[in-house]
Amino acid sequence: MLYLLDTANRQEITTLVEQFPLVGVTTNPTLIARESEPFDELIRGIRAAIGPERMLHVQTSCEDVQGIVEEALALQELAEPPFFAKIPVTAIGIQAIMQLKKQGVGVTATAVFTQQQALIAARAGADFVAPYVNRLDNIAGNGVSVVKDIVHLFNIHALPTKVLAASFKNVEQVHAVSMAGSHCVTVAPELLEFLLYHPLTDISVAQFKKDGPACPRWSSDIITEE
Ligand code: E4P
Repeated sequence: MLYLLDTANRQEITTLVEQFPLVGVTTNPTLIARESEPFDELIRGIRAAIGPERMLHVQTSCEDVQGIVEEALALQELAEPPFFAKIPVTAIGIQAIMQLKKQGVGVTATAVFTQQQALIAARAGADFVAPYVNRLDNIAGNGVSVVKDIVHLFNIHALPTKVLAASFKNVEQVHAVSMAGSHCVTVAPELLEFLLYHPLTDISVAQFKKDGPACPRWSSDIITEE
C-alpha cells in the first residue's frame, strides 16, 4: 500500500516528504481554503516541494461538464504531471471523467461513498477512486467494509483502477483498509505521524541510549587510523 499526504500546507509537505516514503499529495477545496497563499502560487509551491516524480491530486470545483474538463486541463498545466484531477462522482462528474480520459488526463474520482459509485467511476476510466472512510463511519456506515468491497470488485472485474482510500481519523481505520487491500491511502499530517508512533518504541530507544555507547561520529581521523 502506498502513502499520500492529505494537506495543502507547504510547510507540512516539505517536512514530511523528507521523513516518510510518500508518493504524492492530495488536496481538496477545504484544505486549500485554509492556506493564505493565492491558489496558483500554492499549487506551484506544492509541486516544487514534492518534486517532479510524486503525484499531485487537485480537486475541480466547476459544476458543469465543460467547466470541469477545462478546469482539469488548466490544473494539469499548473500542477504539472504526475497530476490527477479529483472529480466528485456525480452524474456530471462521471461525464467529465469520460471526456478527460479520452484526452489522457489523470483522474481521481472523489467523494466516493458506495461500491457502485466506485465501479461506475472505474468503468468511466478513473485512475483512482477515493472512498471516504471516516465520513461513512461518522454516520453509522462502515467505511472499511466499503473499501474492502471496492477492492474485491476491481479484482473480480479485472479493472486497473486503484483504490485511494481517504478521510481517516485514526490509525485503526488506516490499518483496516491496508488489510482490506487498498492500493493507497491519503492521510493528514497529524495522523501520518501517529502511524509511526508507539510509546514502547520511545521507551526502548531511551533505554538503548542509556545502556549503550553514544552514537559514534566517524571522523576522517578515525577512518585514516583504520
Ligand atoms: C481526500 O481526498 C479527501 O478530500 C479527504 O481525505 C477528506 O477527509 P476529511 O473527511 O477528513 O475531510
